[in-house]
Amino acid sequence: MAGLGLVDLVDDTTYRVNVITAHMVAVPSSLDGMLHFSTEPVWAAAFLMKQLRDTNFKYPFQENKTPTQYGYKLIGEERFANQHTYSIMHSQGRMPSFSRFMEGKFGKFGTMPDRVKSLGYDLDSVMNGKADDIVVVDIGGGRGEMLLEVKAAYPHLKKENLVLQEFQPDRVNEDDLTIQHWDFKDDSPETVKGALVYSLTHIYHNLSDLEALRLMKKVADAMAPHSTMLIHEFAKNSTYGKMHATMITLYAGRIRSSREWKQLAALAGLEVTFEAYPVAGEGLVEMRKLPTANGAV
Ligand SMILES: C[S@@+](CC[C@H](N)C(=O)[O-])C[C@H]1O[C@@H](n2cnc3c(N)ncnc32)[C@H](O)[C@@H]1O
Repeated sequence: MAGLGLVDLVDDTTYRVNVITAHMVAVPSSLDGMLHFSTEPVWAAAFLMKQLRDTNFKYPFQENKTPTQYGYKLIGEERFANQHTYSIMHSQGRMPSFSRFMEGKFGKFGTMPDRVKSLGYDLDSVMNGKADDIVVVDIGGGRGEMLLEVKAAYPHLKKENLVLQEFQPDRVNEDDLTIQHWDFKDDSPETVKGALVYSLTHIYHNLSDLEALRLMKKVADAMAPHSTMLIHEFAKNSTYGKMHATMITLYAGRIRSSREWKQLAALAGLEVTFEAYPVAGEGLVEMRKLPTANGAV
């Protein structure tokens, strides 16, 4: 980091942030972010070329066969050689710091309700739709920060209206949210049917096309005609080139373009009904069930 000009040398053993990195310290979650971005992606990048050469440049990667697992295989840590990168991080005790990073990231682009409204999305109409018990399900929602933002914007929503689904749920916000264990990669379906909103923030970019389609199909199967799927992700643009590369080497995932979202939606029986791709910050893709020829869904 010192060599990159990101910190200043104070004495032989001490460094401090400088003008380039000072803003990161103002966002506490950035410290966890720096920990992760200077470890897992660097680890994976170190084995990328070796894996490509050893496999005659076989690509795309399979999700448990990325350079992350290849590195562990090469150093003889067989227990990680076939595990998903999230499972490896869990086994290594890295998920609490990863979840802390996710809470504030490297800085935020406003709360979810404010952000989507600034993109021209009419969240109020969606939230005032047909009143089901479950209003928002946040799939892979970390500690539930986004749902708390929704609750702050729509204070009438109660714990039973807001469902957090995670595969290793941290119950820190249990008083305000309904917290469910769901490993969306196993064979179980989405059990919450007919919610108003199924929200996925930075989830699909962790997944290969096939795995993304598999999850999208599970959510589509649970959706009712009034349901929406809201996908919050960074756009596929030059701002997020490094993010795209990181998703490939850690998870065999990818950032997706409008065309790719529409292809996935069509395969899952959905259609893209709103999309916004800002230069910086999370974009928004809304999908709804595709009406059939006779108008049923
Ligand atoms: C990149 S983080 C995004 C967290 C949160 N949505 C946000 O944007 O701050 C991905 C999340 O997906 C969760 N996750 C990963 N694999 C999962 C699985 N198989 N089932 C459920 N959740 C999973 C992780 O625990 C993590 O919280």
